[in-house]
Amino acid sequence: MSQQRRALIAGNWKMNQGTSAGRELAKAIVAGASKAPNADLVVSPPFTILAAVASDLAGSPVELSAQNMHEKSGGAFTGEVSAEMLKDCGCKWVILGHSERRQYFAETDASVASKTSSALAAELRPIVCIGETLEEREAGKTLEVVGRQLAAFEAIIAKQPGVAAIAYEPVWAIGTGKVATTEQAQEVHAAIRSQLAKVSQQLADVTRVLYGGSVKPDNAEALLGCADIDGALVGGASLKAEDFLAIAAAAR
Ligand code: PGA
Repeated sequence: MSQQRRALIAGNWKMNQGTSAGRELAKAIVAGASKAPNADLVVSPPFTILAAVASDLAGSPVELSAQNMHEKSGGAFTGEVSAEMLKDCGCKWVILGHSERRQYFAETDASVASKTSSALAAELRPIVCIGETLEEREAGKTLEVVGRQLAAFEAIIAKQPGVAAIAYEPVWAIGTGKVATTEQAQEVHAAIRSQLAKVSQQLADVTRVLYGGSVKPDNAEALLGCADIDGALVGGASLKAEDFLAIAAAAR
């Protein structure tokens, strides 16, 4: 963590939580938010309960995020939701380009870039995900892959420095319990930061780069202690208020 960037801890609930479980989880996070005075908290429920959770978060410092959106603002796109609609139901943030979207829903660097641009135009703050697969890491291509994914949207987020966040999530660490070592994570985070600095020093200074992939209460402090790790995107552990808050409380 750097002094100039406040920690951002975002919970990605994925395709979990119906109305009552989701609202209970949101309320428990709101109730415990004061345990994490050094972090901004974001929760990302599924579309079906965004509006309900928005009302549970009202008046609290916990902000709402969606997990995906369509890049167009409206029209004949059956089954899709736009940035404007997410804003309208209380979202401040949207997760874009998660590796599960890239892997199972054919999202590409180009579609992620265009969604990033649409989100910013609608004043929705994107958390754009990047990260290499195990195969790419083993082939020594981590920095090349992450650099390419970042290059697709760096000029877009540079127009409003500090509004978007980036999440570095090694695909092999997501939901597997295999967390990257602090050295592995910091190496990639530092590379991301120096690539941002080539676009603009201000962009590098103010962009929060989160780590994601099996973040748990017992590894959060070490990860968040790395110079270029500014927060966490938490999957599994974000479904338990106690664990999510313990991770957030590890931010100094
Ligand atoms: P995980 O998921 O914490 O369950 O590994 C992280 C993510 O996919 O954002």
